[in-house]
Amino acid sequence: MQNCIIHGDIFYTPEKDRSVSAPDSSLVIENGKIKGCFREIPEEFSSFRLLDCSGRLVIPALYDLHVHASQYQFRGLWMDEELLSWLNEHTFPEEAKYKDIKYAQKAYSIFAEDLYRSATARACIFATIHKDSSILLCSMLDELSMPCFVGKVNMDRNSPSILVEDTDESINETLSYVNEVSERFTYVKPIITPRFIPSCSDRLSSALARIAEDENLPVQSHLSENLSEVDWVKELCPQSESYADAYRMLGFMGKQKTVMAHCVHSLGREEEILKNENIYIAHCPDSNTNLTSGIMPARYFLDNGYRIGLGSDVAGGVSLSIFRAITDAVKVSKLYCRLVDPSFRALSFNEAFYIATKLGGSFFGRTGSFEEGYEADVVVLDDSSVSSTVQDLSVAERLERYAYLESDKPVIHKIVGGKILF
Ligand code: GUN
Ligand code: FE
Repeated sequence: MQNCIIHGDIFYTPEKDRSVSAPDSSLVIENGKIKGCFREIPEEFSSFRLLDCSGRLVIPALYDLHVHASQYQFRGLWMDEELLSWLNEHTFPEEAKYKDIKYAQKAYSIFAEDLYRSATARACIFATIHKDSSILLCSMLDELSMPCFVGKVNMDRNSPSILVEDTDESINETLSYVNEVSERFTYVKPIITPRFIPSCSDRLSSALARIAEDENLPVQSHLSENLSEVDWVKELCPQSESYADAYRMLGFMGKQKTVMAHCVHSLGREEEILKNENIYIAHCPDSNTNLTSGIMPARYFLDNGYRIGLGSDVAGGVSLSIFRAITDAVKVSKLYCRLVDPSFRALSFNEAFYIATKLGGSFFGRTGSFEEGYEADVVVLDDSSVSSTVQDLSVAERLERYAYLESDKPVIHKIVGGKILF
């Protein structure tokens, strides 16, 4: 780990309603952690390596709390379906291809390279049910020093014959996956990944919850994304009071660090469980729009102290860019105020940026801010093609414009956990 100083136009959001702009300043990183932002570099750091990024934006890296690596190859296609038909007709047949390790090699290497070049420092990733290709994905991300959670997906019911596991096989393969990933890799860690309640029998879900607890592993899944899905879960778990309660009855929620994607239809049904059990909510606005799932009430969750982060949910979402998720979160929050509840205020750009950095980043530890002691996850952006020479834009305005206009552009430098990746 190299100590270093990055000089440029710095911006971060230590609180949801407070941002810090430090133009023409120096961010000091010591032993992988943020030391602080300084106008003049203090003498004690003068021997640190200097990355001179004058005129560039220097911001905390972004976090993707929900993405399917195995769906990257079909992003931008088949966007005219709702969730359940989209899964059956397109997603499951595509994921079945990852049984073939050669296909996985080609497809995952493209995903890993694009994630590496993006502004995302860390991600919670779904692979597929196939253990060997899931481990291959872990090895690629580990090689790139990307500290991600990667899950081998579990599915033993309501799934096509090309993409389904026997219950015992699913449990045993998960144990073997967890052992191998925990032993072999430095940056990549395993995460228990029941796809969603309709795909996992009660016996499988209970066994997975036990593995998560015994091995002290985090959990990721989907929750209350689509109303037909919510009704289906009620049929499958008639004793449960809600979808979240069904997970709870099976042994999930609360015991282990958990991230649930979507929660579009949680309000009035299950928000107490999300709050009381400190569940992370991965808000995936582009996916929710493409699959006509609905509008997630991000304002409610943000203002009431819930843990929320952003997710690309590729390929429900089309882009790996969390800048895109930031601007989409702002847009759909405006529609929520207009179409659902006028007493809500739309999210500001800074609030959505805070969700994408410090709030969502807390899933991975003390990350996502430039306060002293935070792990140094930093990206440097070249906004020269959109920073107007006619208007005099502030650092915050330049970042907002970059997010709207340059969301998919590779970053120019990326530092993760204090390590300079490029
Ligand atoms: N629910 C269960 N599986 C999936 C998936 O692959 N994508 C989304 N968006 N929702 C799901
Ligand atoms: Fe998803």
